[in-house]
Amino acid sequence: MKSVALYHRSIRRFKPIPVDVATLEAVAQATSSSEFLQSFTMIHITDATLRAKVAKISGSAALNQPNGALFIFVIDTGRDIRLIAPGSDHHHFTNWNAFLAGAFDVTLAAQNVLAAAERAGLGGVMLGSILNDPQQMIDLLHLPRYTFPLLGLMVGVPDEDPQAKPRLPHAVVVGENTYPAADPAAIAAYDHAVAAYYAHRDTGAREESFYSLIQRHLTADQHHRDEIGAILKAQGFDLPQG
Ligand SMILES: Cc1cc2nc3c(=O)[nH]c(=O)nc-3n(C[C@H](O)[C@H](O)[C@H](O)COP(=O)(O)O)c2cc1C
Repeated sequence: MKSVALYHRSIRRFKPIPVDVATLEAVAQATSSSEFLQSFTMIHITDATLRAKVAKISGSAALNQPNGALFIFVIDTGRDIRLIAPGSDHHHFTNWNAFLAGAFDVTLAAQNVLAAAERAGLGGVMLGSILNDPQQMIDLLHLPRYTFPLLGLMVGVPDEDPQAKPRLPHAVVVGENTYPAADPAAIAAYDHAVAAYYAHRDTGAREESFYSLIQRHLTADQHHRDEIGAILKAQGFDLPQG
């Protein structure tokens, strides 16, 4: 089976050509939805000042250039809560199950949009980096209670043609009926493939391997993301820790 999905690369530089935003938004709405609650809201950022503020939070290269459409995908169970009778026990819309449903709906809608864009010859990149400052995202977008900005997505006409990043060996990631057996040799070979990719890629070539990427995570400063739990609580989600 042939599939353009096999040739995915994130695209972070776009041509100054508009994309069919209405269709992309309709694609997001057509996505599978957990319990059919459609627990997401999608915000298209068209205001240049707002976009600059999101760029500052994200720091992604995709936002440090002017082109492409920017969408923010928001977990949203508030719409359901506003529909039920005032005073009802709404914990089914604030608990882990509801939160995960929202996270599924956001993630699948965003990926569906990216995949549809890629099928149409466009490109794009996910932006988890909006989580660098979720409270500021909430404030900037005037997000009400029971919502949370989980993921950004840039889509546009590609103005770069990066090499595909090699993926882990099939046997390492895919099991049949049970968890796949560890294969250190396959992972070591993969490490060399990643090192070769980084050494020879057209832009941003550097000394890097899969091991070194993982090692860097051990020391990465992600303390600012420790606040996510408190922000979720303030937004009305009730997510106890075990
Ligand atoms: C949930 C998620 C969040 C991501 N966030 C960012 C981001 O904030 N900035 C960015 O440049 N790329 C981001 N990416 C893109 C990844 O860096 C990229 O998918 C990965 O390096 C593999 O490269 P590829 O997509 O070109 O195959 C994100 C991807 C995912 C799935």
